[in-house]
Amino acid sequence: LTVSFISPFQLSPETLQEVSARLRKDLLRGLGKHSHHKAPVKMLPTFVRATPDGTEKGDFLALDLGGTNFRVLHVRVEEEAQKVLKMDSQICAIPQEMMLGTGEQLFDHIATCLGDFLESHNLKGQTLPLGFTFSFPCEQLEIDKSILIRWTKGFNCSGVEGKDVVQLLKEAIHRRGDYHIGSVAMVNDTVGTMMSCGYKDQSCEIGMIIGTGTNACYMEEIKNVKRIEGEDGRMCINTEWGGFGDDGCLDDILTEFDVEVDKTSINPGVHIFEKMISGMYLGEIVRLVLVKMTKDKLLFKGQISEALGTRGLFETKFISEIEDGLENAKKILTELGLDWSLVDASVVRLVCDTISSRSAYLCAAALATLVNRIRNNRKLGHLKTTVGVDGTVYRKHPTFSSKLQKAVRLLAPQCDITFLVSEDGSGKGAAMVTAVAQRPAHQSRLLEEKTVYILTPYLQKH
Ligand code: BGC
Repeated sequence: LTVSFISPFQLSPETLQEVSARLRKDLLRGLGKHSHHKAPVKMLPTFVRATPDGTEKGDFLALDLGGTNFRVLHVRVEEEAQKVLKMDSQICAIPQEMMLGTGEQLFDHIATCLGDFLESHNLKGQTLPLGFTFSFPCEQLEIDKSILIRWTKGFNCSGVEGKDVVQLLKEAIHRRGDYHIGSVAMVNDTVGTMMSCGYKDQSCEIGMIIGTGTNACYMEEIKNVKRIEGEDGRMCINTEWGGFGDDGCLDDILTEFDVEVDKTSINPGVHIFEKMISGMYLGEIVRLVLVKMTKDKLLFKGQISEALGTRGLFETKFISEIEDGLENAKKILTELGLDWSLVDASVVRLVCDTISSRSAYLCAAALATLVNRIRNNRKLGHLKTTVGVDGTVYRKHPTFSSKLQKAVRLLAPQCDITFLVSEDGSGKGAAMVTAVAQRPAHQSRLLEEKTVYILTPYLQKH
């Protein structure tokens, strides 16, 4: 009986190959001039065309919104040592009500956190450039003009979708009037991750996040990005792969539990792929399976505790802890007020393992699509590349990264991938992008044939 709950989550290598093939088509839809508009995988240009070349330097501020916490950072980039130093950082809580309140409240709060940080670090008199890691899908029109397409994860503030986020931030700072900021660079967390790893490893041309949400960016040939003028060189594309499946193309692999998680989320119908994978949702999928199994008298003598019966109380971090050891599993089940047996504890571990493995395999399928695409773009028999990765699920889960890596090797056998866990891509990476953005284009050292990411304005075809 337990098997009937588990098996819909177990995807065969053939199914994963099929998922990868479907995403391959969707990448093309997202890149196409006319198909882009309706494409579920948005494939957003990022302006990033060059890697750091070691000449960047200076002090920067960074804001990081969209992951586990909101953070303000002061970062120094040193030219000679080729180092990005995090000088200081501060976490500011964003209360749940604010995540669902008005945009004005949210940006006032951000401006207050930044003001407090500048005050306490004696930076208020300076006008520092600022990298804004804003980890939501944005149509970037210029490096400092970025229109929010839609909120994802836990956010749903009114009056922000369709607006320029930089403008909203500047207006909030202006309302206070007690400090100034310099030029702003908008950065998706995937791009920050790629850039912070690219600083160390020039062959890093993919950034991937598996945390609260999931997404990846990669270096695409400009000639393939039909919405952008130009034929030469490459540009980093923010895929927004979380939106894969929003047109129903993954419906055949969704379980009843995925459908339920989507229905009860604050953004039903969107980011279907993300909802099968990322930390915001994995715990809830496990909880729903456990509740159903308990109702069917397969667990806990048929008794659902109040905690298990409450939406959101089975946290994704419990999955990592439970899979890490049976003792952890017992402790967590006790804390959830459940009357468990040893068999129950083992079954719960199996459920956790099944759902986190599916997440790792789906990510592997998506990543395989990207590396295979890069290999085909360059007409290479064999591709050697590096992926910068970040996110709590990837970092904290005991076996997630190894499962993902093994599955990618299977799905993309002609690609040899090095995985590099980024050191604070959202903070240091944002500073790096800002530093590169400040560099006049003519001073950028173009590295022919290599991955080059230079931030230069580009013309949009429409
Ligand atoms: C957002 C992406 C982001 C990802 C990881 C998704 O919900 O749409 O922009 O990169 O989460 O944080």
